[in-house]
Amino acid sequence: MEHKNHASFTSSLGFILTAAGSAVGVGNIWRFPYLAAKDGGGLFLLVYLGLVLTFGFTLLTTDIAIGRRTGQNAWHAFGSIRPRWGFLGKLTFLVPAIIMTYYAVIGGWILKYAVVYLCGQRTQAAQDGYFLEFITSSVSPIVFLLIFLAITAFVVYAGVEKGIEKFSKVVMPILLLMIVGTGIYALTLRHTDGSGVTRTGLQGLVVYLIPDFTGLTFSKFLSILLDAMGQLFFSLSVSMGIMITYGSYVKKDVSLEKSIAQVEFFDTGVALLAGMMIIPSIFVFSGTEGMTAGPSLMFQSLPKVFASMGAAGTLVGAAFFVMVLFAALTSCVSIMETLVSTVMQIFRADRKKVSLVIGILSAVAAVIVCMGYNVLYFEYTLPNGQTAQLLDVMDYISNNFLMPLIAFLTAIFVGWVIKPQWITEEMEVQGARFGKKRFYAVMVRWVVPVIMAILFFQSTGLLAKAAAFFAPAGTVI
Ligand code: PFF
Repeated sequence: MEHKNHASFTSSLGFILTAAGSAVGVGNIWRFPYLAAKDGGGLFLLVYLGLVLTFGFTLLTTDIAIGRRTGQNAWHAFGSIRPRWGFLGKLTFLVPAIIMTYYAVIGGWILKYAVVYLCGQRTQAAQDGYFLEFITSSVSPIVFLLIFLAITAFVVYAGVEKGIEKFSKVVMPILLLMIVGTGIYALTLRHTDGSGVTRTGLQGLVVYLIPDFTGLTFSKFLSILLDAMGQLFFSLSVSMGIMITYGSYVKKDVSLEKSIAQVEFFDTGVALLAGMMIIPSIFVFSGTEGMTAGPSLMFQSLPKVFASMGAAGTLVGAAFFVMVLFAALTSCVSIMETLVSTVMQIFRADRKKVSLVIGILSAVAAVIVCMGYNVLYFEYTLPNGQTAQLLDVMDYISNNFLMPLIAFLTAIFVGWVIKPQWITEEMEVQGARFGKKRFYAVMVRWVVPVIMAILFFQSTGLLAKAAAFFAPAGTVI
C-alpha cells in the first residue's frame, strides 16, 4: 500500500491558486474562443455556462473529494476504495498522457509569437498566411516546441513548482488585466473589407453574446453540447486525475465547496473574457466566415488587432504572448507533474530519472504531432464535422471521447457503487457546509451518467448514424 500524500497546501488560497494555475491555460485563451466562434458564439456560451454550474460543479467536487478522502493520486485512488475499480484510475491516467503530446506543440506556437513580438515583427505576424507558413515549416515549430518542453521538464525535474506558483500569482492578475484591456480595445475596432462591408467590434460582441437559434437542429445541438462538454473537462482539468491529486494535498479544515466555486468562477471568467477579446476582433477583420478558423484563430486574429494599434502593438503583443506563455507553462507543468509523480510512485523511482524519461517520451510524441502539419499531414473529418489534423485528433480523443467515458464510469462508481453519501461525508468533514448536497446526488446518480452516455456515443459518430437510420427520409435531424 502506498503512503498517503502529505497535505501540502497551507491555506485554501494556496489550493485555489494552484488549482486555478492548472485550470487557466491555453484552454481558456486559445481553445474556448475558437470553439465559441465555430459554434456560433452566444449559443455555445449559454450551453457552456449551464454546464459549468451543473456538470463542472459535480465533476470537480467528485475529483477533489475523492482525492482528499483517499489521500491518493488518480492511479491509486479508485482501487484503494474498491479494488475492482482500479482500472478506472489507469484509464484516467491516459488523458494527461495524451494531452501532453499536443499541449507542448501549442506551447511552442505561443513561444514563437512571444519571440516574434519581442523582436518587433508586429506587421509580419499580422499578415495572412503567416501562421500557416510557420506551423507547416519543417524545423521552426519543432525547435520552439522543444524549448517549451525543455522548460516544462526542467521545472518538474528540479521540483521547483513552488517557485513557478509564486510567479504565477503575479502573472495571472496581470494577464487578466491585459485580456480585459485588449477586449475593451477590440470593441472599438472598425474595418471595411475589400467588398466595402464595414464591421465593428460592437457587432462582433453581439455575435459573441446573443444566442442565435436559427437553423438549429437536434444533431447540431448535440454537437455543440459535446464541444462545450469537452471544453469544460479540458478547461477545469477534471476527469483526468489532476484534481484528484490536488485534492489529496488539501487539508481537512479547508471548505471544499467554497474553494471549488472559486476555482470555477476564476476559470470561467478568464475564458469568457478571452472570448470577448478574440471573437469581436476576428469578426471585424474576417466576418463570420473567419470564425470557423479553428485552432489557428487566436494566432490569426490577435496579431491583426495588435497591428492596428500601431507601434504600441509591439509592446502589447509581446506582453500578451509572454503572459499566455506563463499560463501555458503552469498548466503544462501540472500535466507533466501528474505523469511524473504517478510513475514515480508506481516504480518507486526517483524524480530526476522519471522526469528525464517522461520528458524524452513527451518530446518524441510532440514532435510527431507537430509533423502532422507537414510530413504527416492528412485531413480527417471528425464526427463533429471538423476537419482534423493529428493535433485535433489527439485533442478529440482525450476531450470528446475519453473524458465523457471516464466521467460516465466515475459517476456510476460514485452514484451507485460507493453512493453519493461517501462524497458528501468528505464535503462536510469538520462541520463544513455542503449546501448543494441533494443537487449533487441527483446529478451524479442520474444526470451525469445519462448525458455522458449520450455524448460518448455522439463522439463516436454512432448516434448520428443511428438517427439518420431511423429518421424518415427527408427529415433534417
Ligand atoms: N486546464 C488547462 C487549460 O485550460 O489550458 C489544460 C490542462 C491542464 C489540461 C492540466 C489537462 C491538465 F491535466
